Amino acid sequence: MNKAARPRVVLGVSGGIAAYKACELLRRLTESGHDVRVVPTASALHFVGAATWSALSGQPVATEVWSDVHEVPHVRIGQGADLVVVAPATADLLAKAAHGLADDLLTNTLLTARCPVVFAPAMHTEMWEHPATQENVATLRRRGAVVVEPAVGRLTGVDTGKGRLPDPGEIYEVCRRVLARGVREPDLTGRHVVVSAGGTREPLDPVRFLGNRSSGKQGYALARSAAARGARVTLVAANTAGALSDPAGVDLVPVGTAAELREAVLAAAATADAVVMAAAVADFRPAAYAPGKIKKRDGQEPDPIVLVRNPDILAEVSRDRARPGQVVVGFAAETDDVLDNGRAKLRSKGCDLLVVNEVGERKTFGADENEAVVLGADGTLTPVPFGPKDAVADTVWDLVAARFPGAPTG
Ligand code: CTP
Repeated sequence: MNKAARPRVVLGVSGGIAAYKACELLRRLTESGHDVRVVPTASALHFVGAATWSALSGQPVATEVWSDVHEVPHVRIGQGADLVVVAPATADLLAKAAHGLADDLLTNTLLTARCPVVFAPAMHTEMWEHPATQENVATLRRRGAVVVEPAVGRLTGVDTGKGRLPDPGEIYEVCRRVLARGVREPDLTGRHVVVSAGGTREPLDPVRFLGNRSSGKQGYALARSAAARGARVTLVAANTAGALSDPAGVDLVPVGTAAELREAVLAAAATADAVVMAAAVADFRPAAYAPGKIKKRDGQEPDPIVLVRNPDILAEVSRDRARPGQVVVGFAAETDDVLDNGRAKLRSKGCDLLVVNEVGERKTFGADENEAVVLGADGTLTPVPFGPKDAVADTVWDLVAARFPGAPTG
């Protein structure tokens, strides 16, 4: 990519121990062709020095408004950016940004930027939960910033709790999506969405289960896309642990069986504006669970496996809408008569939208690409051409957002 065409990203770094993780974010951004200008605060430089930022970005590192004054850096850096991402964002930095203070180069940059802004906070749990911080976060979100919820886990010292900087690779994923959309106002801010992903497993005995080939990638793409568009996301993930990395800013609820998935989805749906059922839920489970391993017996045929039906979660969520105006989306994988079967399924499930996939070699299970048709209960049909699962995710959220009460029509 020629230099002029490269998206210009300002990476603001404020003074927390997680500053070292921003080096990895910087590396991801530069290696994927972004022109990155690092603006550390004075306290950030206590953790990682200017030489590191300069070497990794290939650019001089400006830290204060008083150097190169003739270039007016306190205005120019923000004005010229396509994206500003602050990682880690400390409680102090969030407070300054929320109140429009501008006492160093980074806070000046935040005031002059007219592009999308992403904050990835990291701090101790008490500081994150403090009403002052929460109100500052709410203010920044209301003004159009994407504030990524911190992860839960080990903090500095012996403490654990909410406040960890999410995985830098996942913060990069948020930046990539926000840059691709290029809009300053995330359209799902203030919304709570529930996404189910992965494939349920129904245990036969302590070592065996009935499962399916769902990888969870489409559900994860939906969760990442919703978070980058500002939503609070609950991701109910069936058997994805270890295979997929946790999306940044997303509340992940791991489950195993269809019954566990149902419980988690119904609990989260109580406050949700939208529920998207991308998980492959087993329609049947073994009638009996053998508490000890089922052994083969010489000269004897195995006992048949008797199955019973699992509840249809999508049909239940659609029927019992937990909130007025809640939008419910289902998925269907079909091999034959794709559209006819899809329309029949949309009616029988009672959802608002049904994403219909034709099962094919390069598509659906385990693949990074997908091709789909989204059918609406109102008779609409939206094709999504073959492409990354992100494209299906963004089309789904476009269609969901258009169905929220009060959404602009036409
Ligand atoms: N689903 C669900 N609960 C189930 C089964 C499926 O909520 N017990 C949801 C899935 O998450 C998906 C949609 O329903 O959104 C898929 O419907 P389903 O009827 O299971 O599709 P197929 O497996 O394609 O159905 P069939 O075997 O009848 O073709």
